[in-house]
Amino acid sequence: MARLEGKTALITGGGNGIGKAAAIRFAAEGSQIIVADFNLDAGEDVAQEIRRLGGEAKAVSGDVGDESSVRQMVDVGIAAFGKIDVLLNSAGGGSTRDGAVTDLELDEFWRTIRVDLYGTLLCCRMVIPEMVKSGGGSIINISSLRAVIGTQGADAYTASKGGVLAMTRAIAMQWAENGIRANVMAPGVVLTERVSAFIKKDNPVYQKSLLGPSDPIDVANLALYLASDESRKVTGAVMRLDGGASIY
Ligand SMILES: NC(=O)c1ccc[n+]([C@@H]2O[C@H](COP(=O)([O-])OP(=O)(O)OC[C@H]3O[C@@H](n4cnc5c(N)ncnc54)[C@H](O)[C@@H]3O)[C@@H](O)[C@H]2O)c1
Repeated sequence: MARLEGKTALITGGGNGIGKAAAIRFAAEGSQIIVADFNLDAGEDVAQEIRRLGGEAKAVSGDVGDESSVRQMVDVGIAAFGKIDVLLNSAGGGSTRDGAVTDLELDEFWRTIRVDLYGTLLCCRMVIPEMVKSGGGSIINISSLRAVIGTQGADAYTASKGGVLAMTRAIAMQWAENGIRANVMAPGVVLTERVSAFIKKDNPVYQKSLLGPSDPIDVANLALYLASDESRKVTGAVMRLDGGASIY
């Protein structure tokens, strides 16, 4: 039996990078997929690819940092598939406008907080009641190794990912009795198209990795485990996927 047979997953940021890899991987394991991305063309391409491979998917456009937009993503997903068993919050990411607290562009701080932290909060806030109704689910958030070990040079992003990590544990505590698990992945460098365009080999996380950077599929495979019932006793976990960078 496929590992996600009978499940429906809402994947934000599903149009590119880690979200895209997870959407295609989850679909191959039997999950219906709601591909939510503010880049609708990218989301549609992923949904079409899933359908071409014999899966079921629906693309929906929207901004995770906007309450009415997230409401619409969830409503479209429920209308299409009736329930949401898995929420993977992958929309977000840092930018080169970030830096040390003394140098970073202040509007970049708010952009990162709005998308990565508040966007994750909004999606959890609107999906949790659906999961409660259907008897449980798995929430998978994405933090960063930067929130686990000390690094420098991306302080807005680091702060927002620290918030995601702590918030995920709070969610795990609050809704365990409703059958909802919440875990957070903390990847090091993942060579998505976006990151490949700007990553430098002197990046502190890149340098510390013993096994080298990951590919999006590596993160998708970890997310698959967390989405599936194989991880039914795992909640509140911070799963580091960093090629050994945090051994130090
Ligand atoms: N790539 C890495 O090295 C790395 C490392 C650690 C953590 N992460 C985290 O993993 C997640 C995915 O990163 P990625 O590298 O796959 O990014 P990506 O840029 O490849 O894909 C992100 C997707 O999110 C969408 N998106 C961005 N803002 C959105 C918004 N407000 N509403 C809806 N959709 C939005 C984009 O259109 C894009 O399709 C991010 O949270 C990122 O911080 C990435």
